[in-house]
Amino acid sequence: MQSQKHSALLSRRNFVVTTGATLAAASSGAASQSSKRLRLALVGTGMRGTLTWGIPVAKNYSDVVEFVGLCDINSKRVKMSREMIGVNVPVFTDFDEMVKTTRPDAVMITTICATHYRYIVRSLELGVHPITEKAMCTDEQQCQAILDAQRRSGRNVTVTFNARHGVEDKKVKQLLMERAVGDVIAVDFHEYLNTSHGADYFRRWHRLKENSGTLLVHKACHHFDQANWWLESDPVEVSAWGQLKYYGHNNSFRGTHCRACPYRKQCKLYYDVTKNPQFVKLYVDCESEDGYLRDGCVWAESTNIYDSMSVRVRYRNGVILTYTANTYQPYEGQSISFMGNKGRLDYQTFGGGGHKVSEVRLTRTFGKSEIVPMTEQARAGEHGGADAGIRDLVFRNLPNPDPLSLRAGMRAGALSSLIGIAAYRSIEQNGRLVRINDLVKL
Ligand SMILES: NC(=O)c1ccc[n+]([C@@H]2O[C@H](COP(=O)([O-])OP(=O)(O)OC[C@H]3O[C@@H](n4cnc5c(N)ncnc54)[C@H](O)[C@@H]3O)[C@@H](O)[C@H]2O)c1
Repeated sequence: MQSQKHSALLSRRNFVVTTGATLAAASSGAASQSSKRLRLALVGTGMRGTLTWGIPVAKNYSDVVEFVGLCDINSKRVKMSREMIGVNVPVFTDFDEMVKTTRPDAVMITTICATHYRYIVRSLELGVHPITEKAMCTDEQQCQAILDAQRRSGRNVTVTFNARHGVEDKKVKQLLMERAVGDVIAVDFHEYLNTSHGADYFRRWHRLKENSGTLLVHKACHHFDQANWWLESDPVEVSAWGQLKYYGHNNSFRGTHCRACPYRKQCKLYYDVTKNPQFVKLYVDCESEDGYLRDGCVWAESTNIYDSMSVRVRYRNGVILTYTANTYQPYEGQSISFMGNKGRLDYQTFGGGGHKVSEVRLTRTFGKSEIVPMTEQARAGEHGGADAGIRDLVFRNLPNPDPLSLRAGMRAGALSSLIGIAAYRSIEQNGRLVRINDLVKL
């Protein structure tokens, strides 16, 4: 990892980014000189692109980041996004044209998951640092293409795993690093999504495996990345089961989308997108371009992802992870337990959004059980302040140093996606054991 001082010496045009740390160091080191701000382009101007990486970055990081271009396949949405972000930059529907015209230092990739790899590979080829939202890739061919492009280019990829940045998530990492439970032997990780958050994945592009890699990749890659990061080990083999028993074909009626639905009165999952003014601007007003319906029917028969998933992962260090995710629960939450030879660490969350209650409990074998106090206040904003944390890491190189290893690059992006990919390959083959090494050459 390069020091901040060294990075500050790199001129904007010449800087060769090798890690996310260097990217942030290069921009923050140059903060005082506006001509040295990081020239940032963004592709994928939907919710995440506009609301997480657009508006707050333009507002709070203008000393270190300068937007130079926005791109989306939807020409109306990209213009609306520009207006919402409040930057006076050219907009594009062609990525290469954007990069060649605006010559960015880095590209933020917030398109749908199955398209990230195209822009990662192309950025590497064009000499631009890719910063990608999770999931980095959704199948093994995409993963291999990124690994190969990275090797050819010598540049790294930054993957924005905000789930590492929650206050409790960092505390768990610290406790495991301090070996609070001794050697971890097994981990249980259960994810509960309710009929609002969970259903939302079945309203739009995520419901097709070819777009999301199923929720085992799109959603669970957060959790697999956390597991890899907490355990400091690599997954070796995976087996899984999955089923679709609630959404999709599991209903007697269906429509195209809620606004036009004749069953809206009787459908418990009716959703009124027009109540969200930002969504009206970004989606409803842009439908004429691509037919993307933000309030698509959760009962669509084309749905080919799972709503119940059960996965087993064996790690190189011998740890066994048991993971489940269920997406139609009456409440949101997580239940994560680390079983060690000296004790047990339980991390429980109940509720979501602004109503989340979390507890981290440490119980020593033959000893006391206590709730672990949090030593840090949660920051304001989305995902319990975790999004503010990831923005600081990417654009200000904070925290620096990084004792909890919050930074994530291509390897972390690959291994987290690969667990999900191995899991859906296993499901496709009736629970067969899938070895990570058989999917790609890491
Ligand atoms: N880390 C997190 O907490 C978090 C939260 C939400 C979303 N995300 C990630 O952000 C990404 C976007 O999710 P979203 O909810 O904003 O979706 P979205 O549907 O709101 O936005 C996706 C955008 O990508 C555009 N797009 C689709 N295909 C494209 C292509 N080939 N080229 C260019 N643009 C294309 C769409 O037109 C749309 O504007 C996903 O990868 C998702 O996993 C991460």
